[in-house]
Amino acid sequence: MKIINSVQDFRFWRKKVYGTIGYVPTMGALHGGHISLIEKSIKKCDNTVISIYVNPLQFSIDEDFDLYPKNFESDLKVLSDLKVNAIFFPTDSTMYPENFSTFVKETKLSKVLEGKSRPDFFQGVTTVVIKLFNIVKPTHVFFGEKDAQQLFIVKKMIDDLAYDVKLIPCPIIRDNNGLALSSRNKYLSNKNKKLASLIYKSLMSGKKLLEVGERNPKIVKKQIIKSLEKELFFKTDYVSIANMDTLQEVDAKIDCNVLVSVAVYFENIRLIDNFYFLID
Ligand code: PAJ
Repeated sequence: MKIINSVQDFRFWRKKVYGTIGYVPTMGALHGGHISLIEKSIKKCDNTVISIYVNPLQFSIDEDFDLYPKNFESDLKVLSDLKVNAIFFPTDSTMYPENFSTFVKETKLSKVLEGKSRPDFFQGVTTVVIKLFNIVKPTHVFFGEKDAQQLFIVKKMIDDLAYDVKLIPCPIIRDNNGLALSSRNKYLSNKNKKLASLIYKSLMSGKKLLEVGERNPKIVKKQIIKSLEKELFFKTDYVSIANMDTLQEVDAKIDCNVLVSVAVYFENIRLIDNFYFLID
């Protein structure tokens, strides 16, 4: 497993690699969710590259950039049993040299949900992702459905800009209680992790209604909110039922495929989760 820090060195390595290249961009603090993407890439592609880079562009000043868990050594241990060919681990000055002034912005899907609460977030994501793609030059890229809106926006960017890469969506990995794995869970005590699993349970209570034929989004949302309110320390940012193609809120009857998603602050930590409900 090669560890590469500079663009020049990566390009040198890349020139000698044959066959398909699966790529998993990450911000490190690796957990089972990341591992599932990496394993999928290893299975599907001849070579697998991952990157570890905590991208400052996607954090606003009041967010947790300084606190975000960074431990390259323990990430390396997590990776040691996997057949990853190379890790791209750039510095800030490699990604954003002093005179950096070009940004990539998706202008529709990024306005709602996470984008509403975190206005600079998706521009930070798309800018870093396209730059990483340009360095790694993958044939396949793997993104988690845990961050469904991010996945849809990256897909849109790939399509809009005719980027020659295949995006493979990967299902959400959860702990035994249902809590979606996330690097931010590292901020939670074990007791609070158990309490946070109520997010998943609340989503599932909404899913049950959909499964028995409820199509009124207000009733489904009300059920999810009622369930979330059982935990007094949750501050709900949004509960959304959105058209999966446009991410616009479904206000009347649910008659299209929908992304049902929630964002909750728990002890000031932002936790998100979702499921898809497919009509056709
Ligand atoms: P990060 O949060 O490290 O996530 C990297 C990838 O792992 C993303 O595609 C994310 O959706 C996926 N992932 C995280 N938790 C998951 C889970 N429980 N199950 C399945 N997949 C999961 O997302 C980012 O980093 C950044 O925004 C990045 C794309 C690297 C750009 O900076």
